[in-house]
Amino acid sequence: MHIAEALDSDLEDVLFVERVAFEQDEEAELVRALMADPSARPLVSLLAREEERPVGHILFTTARLEGAPDVSVAILAPLAVVPDAQGRGVGGALIERGLVLMSEAGVDLVFVAGHPGYYPRHGFGPAGRLGFEPPHAIPAKHADAWMVHALTPGLLGAVRGKVICADALDEPEYWRE
Ligand SMILES: CC(C)(COP(=O)(O)OP(=O)(O)OC[C@H]1O[C@@H](n2cnc3c(N)ncnc32)[C@H](O)[C@@H]1OP(=O)(O)O)[C@@H](O)C(=O)NCCC(=O)NCCS
Repeated sequence: MHIAEALDSDLEDVLFVERVAFEQDEEAELVRALMADPSARPLVSLLAREEERPVGHILFTTARLEGAPDVSVAILAPLAVVPDAQGRGVGGALIERGLVLMSEAGVDLVFVAGHPGYYPRHGFGPAGRLGFEPPHAIPAKHADAWMVHALTPGLLGAVRGKVICADALDEPEYWRE
C-alpha cells in the first residue's frame, strides 16, 4: 500500500473511492465541492493505492475556532476505504500520515465527526465536553461522534468555542449522523 498526496489528475480515483466506500454519491460530491472551495484551503488530500488501484482517501480542510484566531484548526472529513480493502490498516495509515502532515503544517487541533469506536485508536477524544462546539448541532445520541485530536500540547482545556468549517461543509445535513 502506498499513500501520496492526491494530484488534480487523481480526482476521478478519489471520487471513485468515496462513492464505493459510502455506497452513495454524497461524500464524493462533498469532496468535489471542498476541493473547489477557497475557504477549505490549505487542505490535505491523501490517496492510498494498492499496486495502482485506488483503495483509500482522506481529506483534511481548514477550519477555525471562533474567538481564537491564533489557534490553527482543521477538520478531517471524509475518510473512505473501499470495502474489499477494509480492515487492513489503510484507514489508520491515512489518518496517521495526515496527522503528521497537519502537525508539520502547524495545525493545533484536528476535529472529526465520526465513529467514536474508531478514531480514539488514533488519538482523538470527545470534543464537546472540552467546550468545542461543532459547526452544526449533532443530535445528542451521536454526541460522542464529535472528537478532537490536539497536535499542540496544552491547548485542551485552555481554549474552547465553536468550530467554523469551510463553506462547502457548512450544511446541517453533514453533521446529523
Ligand atoms: C471506517 C473506515 C474508514 C475504516 O477503514 P479501514 O481501513 O477498514 O480501517 P483500519 O483497517 O485502519 O482499522 C480497522 C479496525 O477498525 C475497526 N472499525 C472499522 N470501522 C469501525 C467503526 N465504525 N467503529 C468502530 N470500529 C471500526 C475495525 O473493526 C477494525 O478493528 P480491528 O483492528 O480490531 O480488527 C472504513 O471502514 C470505511 O471507509 N467505511 C465506510 C465509510 C465510512 O464509514 N467512513 C468513516 C466516516 S467517519
